[in-house]
Amino acid sequence: MGFTWGVSTSAYQIEGGVAEGGRGLSIWDTFTHKNGLPTGDIACDHYHRYPEDVALLADLGVSAYRFSVAWPRIQPDGSGPANKDGIAFYDRLVDALLEKGIDPVLTLFHWDLPQALEDSGGWLNRDTAYRFAEYSGLVADALADRVRLWITLNEPFIHMTLGYATGEHAPGQALLFGALPAAHHQLLGHGLAVAELRARGAAAVAITNNYSPAWPQGDTEADQIAAATYHALHNRFFTDPLFGRDYPEIGLDPAVVHDGDLDIIAAPLDALGVNYYNPTGVRAPAGVAPLPFDLVPLDGYPKTDFGWPVIPDGLRELLGWLKQEYGEALPPIHVTESGCAYEGVDDPQRVTYLDGHIKAVRAAIEDGVDVRGYFVWSLLDNFEWAEGYSKRFGLVHVDFETQVRTPKTSYAWYRDLIRASR
Ligand code: FCB
Repeated sequence: MGFTWGVSTSAYQIEGGVAEGGRGLSIWDTFTHKNGLPTGDIACDHYHRYPEDVALLADLGVSAYRFSVAWPRIQPDGSGPANKDGIAFYDRLVDALLEKGIDPVLTLFHWDLPQALEDSGGWLNRDTAYRFAEYSGLVADALADRVRLWITLNEPFIHMTLGYATGEHAPGQALLFGALPAAHHQLLGHGLAVAELRARGAAAVAITNNYSPAWPQGDTEADQIAAATYHALHNRFFTDPLFGRDYPEIGLDPAVVHDGDLDIIAAPLDALGVNYYNPTGVRAPAGVAPLPFDLVPLDGYPKTDFGWPVIPDGLRELLGWLKQEYGEALPPIHVTESGCAYEGVDDPQRVTYLDGHIKAVRAAIEDGVDVRGYFVWSLLDNFEWAEGYSKRFGLVHVDFETQVRTPKTSYAWYRDLIRASR
């Protein structure tokens, strides 16, 4: 089998249809409505327009499509039997993909927790890990015969940080380091889900982490220490326990980790999903600060519309770090998200961005890292969380008034690249 070229999306960011098919409320419905923010009520209306989106995928020529299942479509109240209409939607989607020869890559949790579970503490509550495993089993019962690669969680670091530490994302809690139990419970849920998936014959199981090399900005020892602390939090905390190590010591209350949890989390994986956007600039905090690091902009690089610096070498660095750090324990890697926000249907900056990052992956492969796939974030312009519809990551432009899809220059470029690599 050759290298996998794909694109990624997630349920709440594209589906809309939030009150259809018996779907329950998610924390993102609550968070956006409560705060008067743009919502995913309609988003790209993919719930109704998925045949058109599958046709776009087929024309693009990708061999795989990474999407997520909305937990509140399957368990509207966060527990109990599977909602048949919810399963039926993904059933149709998976069949439509397979009919076009596109491999479905299914993420079970991309941040849209059922509101009912948040009402009993969300990921701060250990029980949510068990609920997640139960839900994973229900999805696998329906789809393990056709979905090859299963991804348990998307970016538990980002979900913990923006959802529970700073409150910029749903569920909007601002607990700083008090959010760490939400990380452990997600990882425990991952481990428990791996067992459920395997019991149902899932062919391959992975988790997707967000990674960001921590670059010290300043030459003092304190800056180095701050960067190492940030690296332990962002990168190692979510990877060490997958590969049989204890958590790095960054303040998780040991009582949160029960006997046997680390063994569950270290269940063998078939792949590691890597999402990369940019490195993080880190400095020692000034004066009395609530956190042991300051995050600072990395200057001197081109920037996307999000203000994120464009640094393809950071991807090569981080792939190299994973191999060096985890060695034989590291399974094959799929870059499950890589992309950028730019306006316009003619988007030469996105072409430059993707070209640079794909070259970085090639360089990492030449360095000896086992990378098997690359997925562009995203197929469509979509609901970009706290940014609403203001940041466009798609290879396909979406007019959110009319829902007209228009492939961008970058779509044609990626299609040509995929064709040429066959
Ligand atoms: C990642 C998320 C994805 C998207 C991109 C831009 O952190 O996984 O949903 O928002 O960022």
